[in-house]
Amino acid sequence: MTKLIIDTDPGIDDAMAIFYAAAAPDIELLGLTTIFGNVTTKTATRNALRLLEKAGLDLPVAKGADVPLMLPPFTPSAHVHGEEGFGDIPAEAPKGQAITEDAADFLIRMAREHKGELVVCPIGPLTNIAHAIQRDPEFVKNVKRIVIMGGSLEEGGNITPYAEANIYHDPHGADVVFGSGGNIVMVGLDVTHRILCTKEDFTSIAGQSPDLGGMLQEMSKFYLHFYETVGKFDGCSLHDPAAVIACTHPELFETRSVPLTVTCEGEESGATVVDPESLRAGTAVCMGVQSEKVKNLFLQRLALLP
Ligand code: BDR
Ligand code: CA
Repeated sequence: MTKLIIDTDPGIDDAMAIFYAAAAPDIELLGLTTIFGNVTTKTATRNALRLLEKAGLDLPVAKGADVPLMLPPFTPSAHVHGEEGFGDIPAEAPKGQAITEDAADFLIRMAREHKGELVVCPIGPLTNIAHAIQRDPEFVKNVKRIVIMGGSLEEGGNITPYAEANIYHDPHGADVVFGSGGNIVMVGLDVTHRILCTKEDFTSIAGQSPDLGGMLQEMSKFYLHFYETVGKFDGCSLHDPAAVIACTHPELFETRSVPLTVTCEGEESGATVVDPESLRAGTAVCMGVQSEKVKNLFLQRLALLP
């Protein structure tokens, strides 16, 4: 059983990842922390609460940083995820509220309480994780692993030709994480661009899971439309679910251990770069994936939901 905290900016594929974690029998979800990216941190917090309530999970949600470590805030990616984060699904207030502890403090405390066992899966910009590392030097030693959705080694970017969106939105934060010496896994575009779901896949999910799967099908329409406009893919990428799956099924991914730094300025800002001169510990970068197996796990487990 993997003890997991997801750091998230929900977001359509974030919703897919969170519902997957809710369905997975090998995941013990301990809570969610929130971050800007697809939406503002305030909206991300509301959406995270709403997703947990929809999934019938009474778990803590800790609100994260409102702005990147050093850069001014970016405009949320409304053209990819919709104004409210869930495509055309209208905003809805959750019943519950976030805990008083902020995301970094919650992560630090949970890493201490579950020393050596906690896996943290950031599927948004890495600001909260950077704050946790800067506030507590023991944080990266206390966690078992940090499995990041973000970055790109050879695939090129998705928000600029050089950068993947999560890293681009806080390059300084990402650089702190890759330089932390922790046990870091990067699930980037090199693999997530090979794990695609189609309209038919979401129809099938909704057929088996009318309530939660139905919600994903509804929001996937907006996301699939964005991918159609990009024109390169036959379906939409399962970015965030792939990272959650990598937490429990590392055998489905091939990794390359490389020291990484992040470009923090200029045209290539947000690029994840192999930098042997940095003398940093290697990040395990996913370069190969058994795409069909990852996708089937996603489809099979979502089908277990109501
Ligand atoms: C990442 O950026 C966001 O739009 C997605 O939710 C995912 O985390 C993909 O680049
Ligand atoms: Ca995300």
